[in-house]
Amino acid sequence: MTHTILVTGGAGFIGSHTCVALAQAGYEPLILDNLGNSDIRVVDRLARITGRAPRWIEGDVRDRALLDRIFAEERIAGVIHFAGLKAVGDSVADPIGYYENNVHGTWVLTQAMEAAGVRTLVFSSSATVYGDPERSPIPEDAPCRPANPYGRSKRIVEETLADWQQASPGWRIVLLRYFNPVGAHESGLIGEHPQGKPNNLMPFVCQVAVGLRDKLVVHGGDYPTADGTGVRDYVHVMDLAEGHVAALRKAQEAPGLLTLNLGTGQGASVLDVVKAFEAASGRSIAYEIGPRRPGDVPAYWADPALAGRVLGWQARRGLEQMCADAWRWQQGNPRGYE
Ligand code: NAD
Ligand code: UD1
Repeated sequence: MTHTILVTGGAGFIGSHTCVALAQAGYEPLILDNLGNSDIRVVDRLARITGRAPRWIEGDVRDRALLDRIFAEERIAGVIHFAGLKAVGDSVADPIGYYENNVHGTWVLTQAMEAAGVRTLVFSSSATVYGDPERSPIPEDAPCRPANPYGRSKRIVEETLADWQQASPGWRIVLLRYFNPVGAHESGLIGEHPQGKPNNLMPFVCQVAVGLRDKLVVHGGDYPTADGTGVRDYVHVMDLAEGHVAALRKAQEAPGLLTLNLGTGQGASVLDVVKAFEAASGRSIAYEIGPRRPGDVPAYWADPALAGRVLGWQARRGLEQMCADAWRWQQGNPRGYE
């Protein structure tokens, strides 16, 4: 029997790629998305990749009546919960809006799941919960000191889901802490399309390469790293997507709560990314070194060993492929799904 998985935020960047991995693993994704940061034309692209358009519902995870209806009408085997807001700067400007969407939204979803007897949940957390870590690679038991409302919203959800799992031990919960998701499906048909000026490095580099922006401003060249620029653990979005399928399978095995890093375990500097992107695209990326970005951490990367042991998951795609796939998507779709 095919298991239907409710994918909240499934029209977004990571959710859409996870729908591909789910379909390829024999699951049926059912997307619930309010389209606040996505374009539903993604489902046509998903149909071209997997041979079948996923079913989708336009709606909000905070809408309890809608959730009750979905759980009553569908046989949902589990939920992967991507729906949330993710811009750090916006979260500083509108913290309550962020807690309302990310925290309250998860609580409404959890209560609707409990009422329906659906007790398998994979949650999108973030390495941002570690804040400024004491050392890298970061293991899951490192202290969590999120530095902004976005990060705190993720941490509050982690803690309240842990309380919930203690109170209701039949639940199967996996909290996935993503490092820096980048890249696109290798077909070039789906990818990341930020609205307005990108905050994140890879989409910005893509837009410089395609001529939409003049140059990259490197946020700081005087960090205590090999080349002075910030170091992160970039992880290919299809590796992440496959990590979700592995996490779901693990959750279906037994009740409990697991917290796992999803990263490569390798750090790359801003200039490493620029060089890899130049090699992948054959374009030169103009850049200048600017001041540090407030709130940025010099360097961090994951210890992904636990995900390796528990899920048998390991990132397989390197920085070259992340850049090549991001470039294929960017070139083919300079205006996203328009
Ligand atoms: P995204 O914005 O592309 O996807 C999120 C999707 O959720 C969007 O389609 C949006 O329309 C939808 N959504 C938001 N609030 C909703 C609500 N209340 N009800 C229904 N739909 C709603 O972002 P993404 O990069 O795919 O991130 C997915 C998840 O992973 C988010 O929870 C994010 O915080 C987390 N995460 C992302 C990153 C990253 O770098 N992209 C890193 C760590 C964690
Ligand atoms: C940011 C968020 C983090 C979120 C993550 C999602 C902040 C402080 N942190 O992380 O909470 O989970 O995105 O992937 O916003 N850089 C430049 N020039 C640019 C853009 C970025 O030099 O125009 C540098 C940054 O200084 C950093 C690296 O590139 O060293 C990666 O930046 P970014 O992609 O924004 O990710 P994070 O800062 O790691």
